[in-house]
Amino acid sequence: MDTYCVFGHPIEHSKSPWIHARFAQLTDQSLVYHKTKAPLDGFANSLHAFQHQGGKGCNVTLPFKTEAAALATHCSPRVLLAQACNTLKFDGQTIYGENTDGLGLVTDLVRNAGCQLKGKSVLLIGAGGASAGVLGPLLCEKPRQLWVCNRTAEKATELVQRHATLASEQEVDCQALSLQHEGLFSQSFDVVINASSSSLHQGEVPVPHSVLKQGGMACDLMYGPAAQGFMQWATAHGAQARDGLGMLVEQAAESFYVWRGVRPPTAPVLAELRALLAQS
Ligand code: ATR
Repeated sequence: MDTYCVFGHPIEHSKSPWIHARFAQLTDQSLVYHKTKAPLDGFANSLHAFQHQGGKGCNVTLPFKTEAAALATHCSPRVLLAQACNTLKFDGQTIYGENTDGLGLVTDLVRNAGCQLKGKSVLLIGAGGASAGVLGPLLCEKPRQLWVCNRTAEKATELVQRHATLASEQEVDCQALSLQHEGLFSQSFDVVINASSSSLHQGEVPVPHSVLKQGGMACDLMYGPAAQGFMQWATAHGAQARDGLGMLVEQAAESFYVWRGVRPPTAPVLAELRALLAQS
């Protein structure tokens, strides 16, 4: 049977095997998908071993996404921009690299949450790997303005510079800001996306609540307990709060499509996963 897996460290928490098993059932695809904890200094060896054992492809999560992009022999334009890769497909010796994180976020916001991005103002918090994975696909939705703010301003500047050509093609006002920038204290945004890991460390939301619009969208890329602080903050200040569970399911669906050429239904899988997590 065709075999897939997700590599990460840690990986115990991963919901990807469950999601892909449901996709396979719902689309009558015959495959197995498991999780593999690669050693922190041994991702390349683990990946090549899996490839030589006949693995068809894999997902890659923290902390190996950058290394995965370097190991891919053919990278999609999205991977080249993000410098990070969450989906690999093997074809003989060829390793094809794709990044489906941003597509997953955009699909979740636009289709599942009914939040159009075209012409909107968007604030992206963070300039690490998670932000890098979503910035390109967000720009492709043609928001009017997409500002990236980060604690370390230089990282936001580097990320925005890397995306400058795409931003200009899409006619987006794309700028890098430090967390102290006055624009964060004088403007509200239609959509605020938290791609920083501040929630993970139970930190304060690193921007003032004045960035939120009444009835606007506020989305954390995390899910479960890690997203709760940001979502409570957003709700308390009048925004619609959303976690990253929909993005998780949608990015998985894009990976499934890369491997199998079949689009699985995501709405029932997201509903089931939400119910499952609520019980645990
Ligand atoms: P990931 O792959 O999850 O994005 P990362 O690449 O380590 O992880 O990036 C983490 C991001 O969260 C960075 O933008 C980081 O800011 P710095 O670039 O200044 O380090 C941001 N971050 C982490 N903890 C934070 C905090 N307490 N307040 C604000 N930003 C924080």
